[in-house]
Amino acid sequence: MPVTDTEVILRIRGLKVSFQTERGRIDVLDDISLNLRKGRVLSLVGESGSGKSVLGISIMRLLPSNASSSGEILYGGKNLLDLNERSMREIRGKEIAWIPQNPDTMLNPTLKIGDQIGEILIERYGYKRKEAWKTSVEILRKLGLNPPERIARSYPHQLSGGMKQRALLAIGIAGKPKVLLVDEPTKGLDSIMKEKALKALREIKNMRDSPAILLITHDLEFAEKLADVIAVMYCGQIVEITKAEYFFRSPLHPYSKLLLDALPSRGLIPIPGRHPNITDPPIGCRFHPRCPYSHSQEKCLDEPPMIPVGENEVKCWLYDDIRNSSDNAY
Ligand SMILES: Nc1ncnc2c1ncn2[C@@H]1O[C@H](COP(=O)(O)OP(=O)(O)OP(=O)(O)O)[C@@H](O)[C@H]1O
Ligand SMILES: [Mg+2]
Repeated sequence: MPVTDTEVILRIRGLKVSFQTERGRIDVLDDISLNLRKGRVLSLVGESGSGKSVLGISIMRLLPSNASSSGEILYGGKNLLDLNERSMREIRGKEIAWIPQNPDTMLNPTLKIGDQIGEILIERYGYKRKEAWKTSVEILRKLGLNPPERIARSYPHQLSGGMKQRALLAIGIAGKPKVLLVDEPTKGLDSIMKEKALKALREIKNMRDSPAILLITHDLEFAEKLADVIAVMYCGQIVEITKAEYFFRSPLHPYSKLLLDALPSRGLIPIPGRHPNITDPPIGCRFHPRCPYSHSQEKCLDEPPMIPVGENEVKCWLYDDIRNSSDNAY
């Protein structure tokens, strides 16, 4: 089934997020729009500081008190940005699960892994304690945590970083969420652990009631193995969004091309210049100071819109003349 034909579970439209700081207001996310679809993985990629985690935290409504947001995060017919904290608590961790960049912040150091998974099953689905423990072991087995009985009996400090990540995934999916947000699941992992994380996420993607998955990563090679759709983030904006196969075969945005050229498997060519500080984004196209095509283009000093081109949507003036007549519904 084509990616865009599957059911949209979470729809983000025109999301903006700012932080009020001592040095004034920082606009971190600018006009973000995307759809998360049932059983599909959308991978959000881009350099450090581009705003990927802030997007995940915004969906969970876990932004700090100095943040403000506008736009729409539509889930189950409601805009999450309008919900009060009590209603949000009913959704958070239950219908929308969040696996943060640093697993230690989410695991309870005083509870065995099996009990942390079981707690959700008891609370949400009324499991009896014994039954919850058995199911916890089964979930751990499914996600490749071996031997699952021993892992269930372990406390978080007894597990390696990679195991903690997968234990968190187990806790995340125990409540059968409709949306799973995973932030940098391969951070600090060696290639063996990465492979295990990949298998665990594939297992989740192939479950009968699989959630819509947002995979936040700057590991493009990992994203390639898992994603259906790639969204490229640059300095707080999405600059290209397309099916994964198109992205890896024929990306359109100059930044996307450079990101791919920087991969070890594709030449390891460093991207010129540095990602701008989000406190002071360049005017017009935010990528133009680093862009190999921008020098002859006066247009680049104006901000380009998101332009539908073939199967891609791309925020770059280079494609203004060949735009499609309608959007692509990513
Ligand atoms: N509480 C805050 N107050 C002010 N600025 C913040 C706050 N939280 C995040 N930011 C800023 O938002 C920007 C985006 O941060 P974010 O953590 O989303 O980046 P990222 O793309 O996830 O990076 P990485 O790949 O390193 O995880 C950064 O410039 C960061 O300094
Ligand atoms: Mg991050």
